[in-house]
Amino acid sequence: MVRFENKVVAIAGGAGGIGSGVSLRLAAEGAAVMVGDINFEDASHVAAEIQASGGRATPFKLNIGDEANVIEFIETCVRLYGGLDGFHANALDASRREDDDDLTSMDLATYDQMMGVNTRGFVLCTRYAVPQLLKRGGGAMLYTSSGAAYAGDGTRPVYAMSKSAVHALSRYVASRWGKQGVRSNVIAPGLIVHAGVRAVLNEAALEKTLAGVKTPRLGEPEDIAAMAALLLSDDGAFVTGQVINVDGGGTMRA
Ligand SMILES: NC(=O)c1ccc[n+]([C@@H]2O[C@H](COP(=O)([O-])OP(=O)(O)OC[C@H]3O[C@@H](n4cnc5c(N)ncnc54)[C@H](O)[C@@H]3O)[C@@H](O)[C@H]2O)c1
Repeated sequence: MVRFENKVVAIAGGAGGIGSGVSLRLAAEGAAVMVGDINFEDASHVAAEIQASGGRATPFKLNIGDEANVIEFIETCVRLYGGLDGFHANALDASRREDDDDLTSMDLATYDQMMGVNTRGFVLCTRYAVPQLLKRGGGAMLYTSSGAAYAGDGTRPVYAMSKSAVHALSRYVASRWGKQGVRSNVIAPGLIVHAGVRAVLNEAALEKTLAGVKTPRLGEPEDIAAMAALLLSDDGAFVTGQVINVDGGGTMRA
């Protein structure tokens, strides 16, 4: 399928477990992909893999917490590829994950850091990507959140808050610029297994999660990539303002 011929997509957090899967899928479908990630080495590997199979990709050292750097990312994309048709805000700063537990004793620097990247960073991406989409007569914004955004959980309060905020941001974008051709959606993944997840979750935890989904297997980056490609392409032309769960039925929201 070549749904992204002559299309340009930028992805923030494009080198991680899920992000690399999305980058590879979009490129395989014909997109020129700006692979933005704070981990430049990994972004370079992803871009090299795309180039090796005949695709177009450019790695970029991106910190979405830094406004000037986000501006430079989008400007570089436009300079190299002539414009922007889609933007996927997917990055996650998990550096203070351990402290994101008891709100009564948490170091508030954890709150500031996580919200600063995972929420404010997505705002910065939106602020500078949407004007470029409008210049092309429309396009698609896509955000990665998590089932944690609406599941009750006695831990990870800031992670859940940072993701809930993204749902409101996406609804705003869909409403504000919808008539000008900009769509905006959120993918809320369940557990998606990749090397980074395997490094922190043991087999017992994976088995427990498998018991809670309705599919024979757990999720993989390719599952998110398939939905991202749909939502960023014209196949998603009538889908906007939605939060789509890609979680093997782990949550069944009516
Ligand atoms: N894997 C899962 O089970 C799962 C479940 C629910 C939601 N999610 C969400 O999916 C997204 C991707 O998660 P993942 O599992 O691939 O994690 P990951 O850690 O593999 O990927 C995150 C990427 O973001 C990059 N990053 C971190 N800080 C950044 C910054 N300031 N600027 C730019 N890039 C930065 C990292 O270098 C990394 O490549 C996240 O938003 C996460 O919350 C993942």
